[in-house]
Amino acid sequence: MARIAVFGAGYVGVCTGVVFSQRGHEVRLVDVVRDKVEALSRGRLPFHEPGLREALSSALAAGKITATVEAGEALRMADFAFLCVGTPRRRDGSPELTYLRSAAREIGRTLRGRSGFLTVVVKSTVLPGTCETVVLPELEKASGLRRGDGFDVAANPEFLKEGSALADAEHPDRVIVGAAAASTADRVWTLYDEFPGPKVSVDCATAEMIKHAANAFLAAKVGLSNEVANLCERIGVDWYGVAQAIGHDARIGGQFLRAGVGFGGSCFPKDVEALARFARTRRAPSGLLDAVLAGNERQPLEVLHLLRREFRSLRAKRVALLGLAFKPDTDDVRETRALPIFRALRRQGAHVVCHDPKALENFRTLVPSVKTASTVEEALRGADACVVQTEWSEYRNLAPARFVAWMRTPVVVDGRRTFDPRTMAEAGVRYRAVGLGAPKP
Ligand code: UGA
Repeated sequence: MARIAVFGAGYVGVCTGVVFSQRGHEVRLVDVVRDKVEALSRGRLPFHEPGLREALSSALAAGKITATVEAGEALRMADFAFLCVGTPRRRDGSPELTYLRSAAREIGRTLRGRSGFLTVVVKSTVLPGTCETVVLPELEKASGLRRGDGFDVAANPEFLKEGSALADAEHPDRVIVGAAAASTADRVWTLYDEFPGPKVSVDCATAEMIKHAANAFLAAKVGLSNEVANLCERIGVDWYGVAQAIGHDARIGGQFLRAGVGFGGSCFPKDVEALARFARTRRAPSGLLDAVLAGNERQPLEVLHLLRREFRSLRAKRVALLGLAFKPDTDDVRETRALPIFRALRRQGAHVVCHDPKALENFRTLVPSVKTASTVEEALRGADACVVQTEWSEYRNLAPARFVAWMRTPVVVDGRRTFDPRTMAEAGVRYRAVGLGAPKP
């Protein structure tokens, strides 16, 4: 049983804490936002993530996890300090390291005079070199000690996905531990004894690169799917048939080939941009990463292309925009493609009415004037067109006849291939989707 302080109570921090507490460890979640800590202590999450609230409540009830704003108190007896603080994008595309630095300084200040070894484990997404050249120096400076003198740093990137965060953290595809000293890596590995999947030991910079490379590959796969899908739509070929077939090639793989309106979220756009910028600072070419980002900026406009196949103008047309979250099962709207779609529709003069099962309030912080509907029916009633931006099951389960019954003209532009084209067409819906070859005239 280890004592673990987890800094940063976002998706990664809470999942990490809950998963370690489930394995019998004693976890203290540390966050600087007092309201968040109070809510967590009462079993409430500041974001929507399936299953996590229940798991947190069980861990709280078992006395295995607590939350605090007091870093010193959490660290007093700790064997591990996990850094799970955010590294958001700065204006220039580089990651903001303020939270990481200040957590490292705070930990450093408690190191002097403390007994026992503290392994500081960086889970936050950081560029190669950050553990060794940012976190370690902050710890050494604040403590006046040198690495190995009662503490060390390790990198342990996280690969969970929002929407299935807890399950991903419980059953990782692989665990990566980066450390300079074998003894430090061994300490971290004791926490992962019973975890499934391959376990990879590397140095810190390699671990940090693995995280960025994984996200760059996944984002590029989505980007390439989108680009080929756009072509498919224009030549009357269904990308989804193509994707299924090429996915049988193990070198390509069948996942992450879902064409749509582009990738959003707090990771792909930020991490790919950070890596591209990082490459340039090292005078390495970044053309492919740049192209992935540029393609992703264009991709939401595919919706307008599809609408233009049905309407000469969108002026004064009522458009229902279904789905504001960047993906289903989350209320996260960071980098959501709903925002560029919403703006583009408005620029064309459309009246946009938005719906989302969970993300309405968060989207309102991006667009305070947004017109919202509290039910799907309310959004669709009298609409000239509907654009699906997030493939919530709530939408998927809608009978196609509803669109015909509720809408003024049943035009559905599906940005996530939520529906079966044939069933929609049979019900009388004029159905268009990214990558779906246009019906022959
Ligand atoms: C992503 C990675 O999948 C995780 O492995 C990683 O840990 C995480 O970033 C991170 O770095 O923290 P996440 O952003 O939560 O996870 O969600 P994804 O399921 O990867 O989706 C990202 C975006 O890509 C979404 O907007 C989604 O709609 C889009 N996407 C995904 C597609 O358009 N097509 C696909 O085939 C898959």
